[in-house]
Amino acid sequence: MSGLLAGKRLLVTGVITDASIAFSVAKLAQENGAQVVLTGFGRLSLVERIAKRLPEPAPVIEVDVTNAEHLASLADRVREHVDGLDGVVHSIGFAPQSCLGGGFLDAPWEDVATALHVSTFSYKSLAMAALPLMSPGGAVVGLTFDATKAWPVYDWMGVAKAGLESASRYLAMHLGKQGIRSNLVAAGPLRTIAAKSIPGFDQFEDAWAERAPLGWSLTDQEPAARACLALLSDWFPATTGEIVHVDGGYHAIGS
Ligand SMILES: NC(=O)c1ccc[n+]([C@@H]2O[C@H](COP(=O)([O-])OP(=O)(O)OC[C@H]3O[C@@H](n4cnc5c(N)ncnc54)[C@H](O)[C@@H]3O)[C@@H](O)[C@H]2O)c1
Repeated sequence: MSGLLAGKRLLVTGVITDASIAFSVAKLAQENGAQVVLTGFGRLSLVERIAKRLPEPAPVIEVDVTNAEHLASLADRVREHVDGLDGVVHSIGFAPQSCLGGGFLDAPWEDVATALHVSTFSYKSLAMAALPLMSPGGAVVGLTFDATKAWPVYDWMGVAKAGLESASRYLAMHLGKQGIRSNLVAAGPLRTIAAKSIPGFDQFEDAWAERAPLGWSLTDQEPAARACLALLSDWFPATTGEIVHVDGGYHAIGS
């Protein structure tokens, strides 16, 4: 098998539709020589149906990243399909409606806690659950939305992403001695289920259309997926704790 990820075994979380960033990652990874195991949350039969649209049908294991039993049994369940992992993709985010769309000042702690559990803490939990299967040269890659700024309508999800960006640096620090890297891709706005759940998401769409120097497609997940592949590959062997912007250059431009 040839390709950027020839022979690599990947665990890819976060597929719910074929518009999911994770679906693009899984598809491109297979096209580039990787063996992919997917995880699904909740609607397993839907994820299994979507998995069949990949170039190679991929096995799906159930993982709710807030469920301790799912995490404790993850390594054994992945081992039923592959004998180890070279990469893990965290493509998971969720915040209750109160946390989004301008509700920053009123969202209750219980809802904020859910957002942080699913979107931030899970990055570490997932990596640790997969760690027994990983060896030096392995990589963990996650998806963020530039958390250096406060965005209208993103609210507590922005805080969760800031935490994710920090968690990735800490994971890089703690797993570095085992030769495992942790990096994030900061994607521009893409029309996925997660994005549609954010009231006022169109404000991002308009801003990107106006300001991204390279232009930006709201429906093309492939640029973000390509960056994930690069970070999973052997071509970033000395890069960890990094955030690669895949946003048409938006982050570099002042308003
Ligand atoms: N769409 C965008 O504009 C955009 C931009 C930058 C970053 N991101 C990030 O990309 C990642 C993937 O999102 P997407 O846009 O592809 O949307 P998506 O809705 O396709 O994917 C989100 C995934 O999170 C999963 N999920 C939610 N709660 C979970 C839980 N408890 N356990 C396990 N999985 C759970 C869902 O099942 C879904 O597959 C997220 O981290 C998101 O914040 C998205």
